[in-house]
Amino acid sequence: MSDKKMTSSRRHHLKSVMLSIAASMIVQEKKDLVIAKANYMAEHCPSPNKSGDQATLMDTCKKLHGLIDAVDEERYDLGSKVNKTDQEIEELKIKVIDLAGVKKPALKRVRMSADAMLKALLGSKHTVNMDLRANLKQVKKEVKDEPAEAVGDWRKNIEDKADRKKMFETS
Ligand SMILES: *[C@@H]1O[C@H](CO)[C@@H](O)[C@H](O)[C@H]1NC(C)=O
Ligand SMILES: *[C@@H]1O[C@H](CO)[C@@H](O)[C@H](O)[C@H]1NC(C)=O
Repeated sequence: MSDKKMTSSRRHHLKSVMLSIAASMIVQEKKDLVIAKANYMAEHCPSPNKSGDQATLMDTCKKLHGLIDAVDEERYDLGSKVNKTDQEIEELKIKVIDLAGVKKPALKRVRMSADAMLKALLGSKHTVNMDLRANLKQVKKEVKDEPAEAVGDWRKNIEDKADRKKMFETS
C-alpha cells in the first residue's frame, strides 16, 4: 500500500516537473515568436521613408498602396486555400465516418456459458448435443438408483435371516 502511495506521489512530482518545463517552454516560445516577427517585419516591411519633398512622399504612398494591394491579394489567395482545405477536411471526415460504419465493430469480451457458445457456433446441431447430455444424466441417475434399491433388498434379506436365526435360537 505504501508502494502505491510512493508511485502516486512520484507520479504527481513528475507531472508537476513536466508542467513547469512545459510552462517555461511556452514562455520561451512566446519570446521567440516576438523576435521572429520583429525580424520578419524588419526584412519585409521596412518603415517608410517619411523625409523628403512632396513628390518623394507621394511616391512612397504609391509604393505603400501597391504593397497593400499585393498583400491583400496574397491574403485572399491564402484564404481561399484555407477554405478549400477546410472543405477537403470535412469531406474526409465524412469518408472516415462512412468507412467506420462499414468496418466490423471491434470484438468485445462476452461472458458466455459453454452451452450458449456451442449453440451460437453450431446452431440447431447443438440442441442434439444438449439432449444427449440430458439423456446421459438421466441414465446415470437411473444407474445410481438401482443399487440403492438392491441394498434395500439385501438389508431386508439380512433382517429376514436374522429373524430366522432368532427363531432357531429361541427354539
Ligand atoms: C529618405 O529619403 C531622402 C530623400 O529621398 C533621402 O535623402 C534619405 O537618405 C532617405 N532615408 C532613408 C532612411 O532611406
Ligand atoms: C472563406 O470562407 C469564409 C467563411 O466560410 C468566407 O467568409 C470567406 O469569404 C472565404 N474566403 C474565400 C477566399 O473564399
